[in-house]
Amino acid sequence: MRRRALLDGGIAAVALGGAGLLSGSLTATLGRDDDTATAAATGTPGATSPVPQEQNGGPSVPAAQVPVGGSATVKDPASGDAVYIVQPAAGQYAGLSSVCTHSGCAVNPPKDGQLYCPCHGSKFDAATGAVITGPAVKPLPKYTVTKNGDQLRLGPQQKS
Ligand code: FES
Repeated sequence: MRRRALLDGGIAAVALGGAGLLSGSLTATLGRDDDTATAAATGTPGATSPVPQEQNGGPSVPAAQVPVGGSATVKDPASGDAVYIVQPAAGQYAGLSSVCTHSGCAVNPPKDGQLYCPCHGSKFDAATGAVITGPAVKPLPKYTVTKNGDQLRLGPQQKS
């Protein structure tokens, strides 16, 4: 009888201890969930966050960074794709997508008036984006670029 009482008490103690552990585990889990929710809410950009400059008319670069025949790289705010701002002739600026129209590889920056795709060898005209050599058949998408003071700003992608 005494042995039975000890045994029953031990089981009850284990059961209570288990319930306590379970309770603590649930509390910890719920607490973590609350912390996660708080972190996600505070990490979410609020409506009062300042709008990045890129969304107020496209990214810009100093014109001095785009020599004749050279380029500077910016990001299309709509697609996230890299765009080369080029100056094929003095004072003439344009934006050309860096995404090859053949299979989507990144074309190299302009060199000797051409943009070369290292994947399959397509070449594009650095002034117009037109295909010089395939296998690509479509030109590189083109963007307007406006010069304002000493800044070049990427405009929208032109319709082909
Ligand atoms: Fe550019 Fe094929 S992806 S030539």
